[in-house]
Amino acid sequence: MSIKRITAEEAAQLIKHDDNVGFSGFTHAGCPKVVPAVLAKRAEEEHAIGNPFKIGMFTGASTGDSIDGALVRAKAIKFRSPYQTNNDLRNAINSGEVVYFDLHLSHMAQELRYGFLGPVDVAVIEAAEVTETGEIIPTCGVGIMPTITRLAKLVIVELNKWHSAAIRGMHDLYEAPDPPQRSAIAMEAVDTRIGNEYVKVDPAKIVIVETNQANEGGGFTPVDEVTAKIGEHVANFLVNEMKAGRIPASFLPVQSGVGNIANAVLAAMGDNKQIPDFKVYTEVIQDAVIELIENGRVLFASGSSLTVSNPCMEKIYGNLSFFKKKIVLRPSEISNNPELIRRLGIIAMNTALEVDIFGNVNSTHVMGTKMMNGIGGSGDFTRNAYLSIFQTPSTAKEGKISAFVPMVSHTDHHEHSVKIIVSEYGVADLRGKSPRERAECIIEHCAHPDYRPLLRQYLNSGVKGQTPVNLYNAFIFHKAFMETGDMRNAKC
Ligand code: COA
Repeated sequence: MSIKRITAEEAAQLIKHDDNVGFSGFTHAGCPKVVPAVLAKRAEEEHAIGNPFKIGMFTGASTGDSIDGALVRAKAIKFRSPYQTNNDLRNAINSGEVVYFDLHLSHMAQELRYGFLGPVDVAVIEAAEVTETGEIIPTCGVGIMPTITRLAKLVIVELNKWHSAAIRGMHDLYEAPDPPQRSAIAMEAVDTRIGNEYVKVDPAKIVIVETNQANEGGGFTPVDEVTAKIGEHVANFLVNEMKAGRIPASFLPVQSGVGNIANAVLAAMGDNKQIPDFKVYTEVIQDAVIELIENGRVLFASGSSLTVSNPCMEKIYGNLSFFKKKIVLRPSEISNNPELIRRLGIIAMNTALEVDIFGNVNSTHVMGTKMMNGIGGSGDFTRNAYLSIFQTPSTAKEGKISAFVPMVSHTDHHEHSVKIIVSEYGVADLRGKSPRERAECIIEHCAHPDYRPLLRQYLNSGVKGQTPVNLYNAFIFHKAFMETGDMRNAKC
């Protein structure tokens, strides 16, 4: 008997109030788009006649607006984990409307398997191909797809014709056995393959909804003066490390975080011809990596998604035989796996919201309280990297916020894991330095000149001890911002 084809409306009726739903993909890449939007409409209809309708949501990372945006606007999300970037969802999380549990992206699939987060009732996934025997080929993003399709009782597949079925072969899909049965993950190089090119699912629990929807990805803003400077500093720092023999002459694989700054840093590395051609082991492969693959600077890229603009995706589909030799897409528990990151010797480069003068980093909470996006993969990579770099512009909001503060208002990455800080002003190398030495280095090399005297005044306020934190004044910058709208009004 062939796998049942149904409409998106019929599929949405199969999901019940209170179900936990797992979604495929990683960022907007590889996410279903049609069923979640119809589900949001259904939730509104249920609410209009007085019926409750909310679901729990498990994802690989952030999703497209037709999942997070549509469902949160329909007040259909009860619980959500992990990373998100949608503005409406962010507001609902910070108002307390949605319960949000943030965790390392490499942990998501295994914590579902361990049963820490409750059952996965339904999986809604996007595929480029489904065979009658239940072999499913993801599109351009994987995330937690192998785990949710195995755990769920029902698998709703959006078979999206916008994607090319010829993408088959770009994926390497592997689920590690759970402890105590887990043995070493047999990957010794960025391009090693350890799994299958498809996920195998019992056909009896699959239903298919045929769609034809473009990706929801936007482009990147052009590199500006600040991001260009940050990119240049990172590239020059890596060249110097190589010359000093602290990075092997053959270079090491690189992880690069999400967003415009990360895109600019990779572009700067590509432009710096003193850096040899290199490999990328990351979670999100962005447009800059594709350009560097085309011009030969990036030899191979491993990630969980192709988070690229639509023109870039079309370019990849136009030359799949070339790109399939250069790119592999993996589940997020493998792309972000701490064991592999440590073994492969990854250079990790992520963006911070704020950094304190002792080297602790806040990636997630604005003024310590409001969730921005989530920790994403930054913890997976930072803690286990060969070299962990955090980059940030020295200020935000026209200079009213300093990225460098006496004490971070929330800690995601602490002084023991953070090695290098970069702003448009320069590089602070924290390796081997005491907390006081780190503070002097960050103030001198990274802080904005407007804030340097204030930070020095704080550091030299007479506190003795290994880490000269002044508990009376640790949050003077944040207090000044809350009271006057400008951290430059801080008084020690
Ligand atoms: N306080 C308040 N707001 C701040 C701030 C601070 N200290 N620092 C930056 N911001 C604001 C910016 O003004 C900007 O606001 P806008 O959107 O209104 O313009 C916003 O935060 C984003 O900052 P931006 O400098 O544009 O950087 P980004 O888009 O690269 O995002 C993070 C930075 C930290 C939010 C983002 O990298 C992130 O979510 N990181 C955590 C996950 C991660 O690192 N994943 C990669 C691992 S592989």
